This record gives sequence, C-alpha cells and structure tokens, in this order.
Amino acid sequence: MTIAVCPGSFDPITLGHLDVVRRARTLFDRVIVAVARNPGKSGLLDLDARAALARTAVAADPVTADVEVGVADGLLVDFCREVGATAVVKGLRGGADFDAELPMALMNRHLSGVETVFVVADQAYAHIASSLVKDIARNGGEIGDLVPPGVADAVRAAVGRGVSDHTRAGRTGTGPMP
Ligand code: PNS
Repeated sequence: MTIAVCPGSFDPITLGHLDVVRRARTLFDRVIVAVARNPGKSGLLDLDARAALARTAVAADPVTADVEVGVADGLLVDFCREVGATAVVKGLRGGADFDAELPMALMNRHLSGVETVFVVADQAYAHIASSLVKDIARNGGEIGDLVPPGVADAVRAAVGRGVSDHTRAGRTGTGPMP
C-alpha cells in the first residue's frame, strides 16, 4: 500500500488545497493530511481548529472521503515515519512556490529519505492562498467561493467579523466602522 502525507499550514484550508489532496488521493492508496506549523507564518486558527475544518472538507468530497487528517506538531518527517508514509505531496502554483518548497523537500529527504511529489492544482485555484483569504476576511471581503463550505464562517469568526460586519463593509462612505 502506498501512503502519502499532504502537509501544510492549512490556515485555513482552501479550494486549492482540497484540489491537491484530491489529486494525491488518485496517486496514493492512503493519504493523510498533516496540519503543521510553518515558523515563517503567523497563525490565525489553532492547529486543532484547522484540522477540524480540513476534516470536514475532505469528508464532503467523494474522492477524499477516506483521507485522514492529523496534526503534526513537530517535525513533518516524524509524522511521516509514524504513519508509514514514503511520500509527501505538495501543490505548486508557480515558481515562487517551487522556490519555497525545494529546500524543504531536500531537507525532508536528508532527514528521513521521504520523497516529495509536486502536483499542480487546477488553474482555477492558482490565485488562492490562505494568506489572501485571511486578508480579504479581515477587510470584510467575500471569501465563500475560495474555501470549502463552513470554512468562511470560521475564518470570519476568528478575525472578529461576522456576516453582518461583511454586509456593513459594503456600505458607502469613508468613516470608521460603527
Ligand atoms: O502550507 P505551508 O505553510 O507551505 O506548509 C509548510 C509546512 C507546514 C509543511 C512546513 O513548514 C513544515 O513541514 N512544518 C513542520 C515542521 C518541520 O518539519 N520543519 C522542517 C521543514 S524542512
């Protein structure tokens, strides 16, 4: 049985992430999403909340319904070893992603021998990044079509804006938000 881990910050999971997990599941018999910390990124949601959203998202898609979701609160290679994964699957949107991913792929292989497989998500998702989703949410913009169902509400709640805040953000005028 081939086992792969799909790691990421998933803060929050997006439609682009889900597309990568779907593609990973067509390549490997067993796929485990690993929600992990990226020291270069400040988190919005805690790891357990990110994992819960990811779990709901994969469960709702027939292709990824049997994909498991775990928290890797340590080295990714340790998580891979624990679950018996011989491959890591990451998505690439462009050259900047590759530049960031290459050193990690090489380091993970140096540490444990695990191979990294890069997949390209559907071009329809190439503009989606968790950081942009959070920025849009913080500024009252619409994120519902960028993330799986349920995620937008969680992100809005975490940034301290409800649906009504979003509605107010669409008002005209430049004064401070009531
Ligand atoms: O979604 P991201 O932020 O691109 O994912 C990066 C992530 C979380 C997979 C990476 O930072 C990671 O593997 N973190 C776990 C800690 C670890 O193993 N660090 C060494 C990486 S070579």
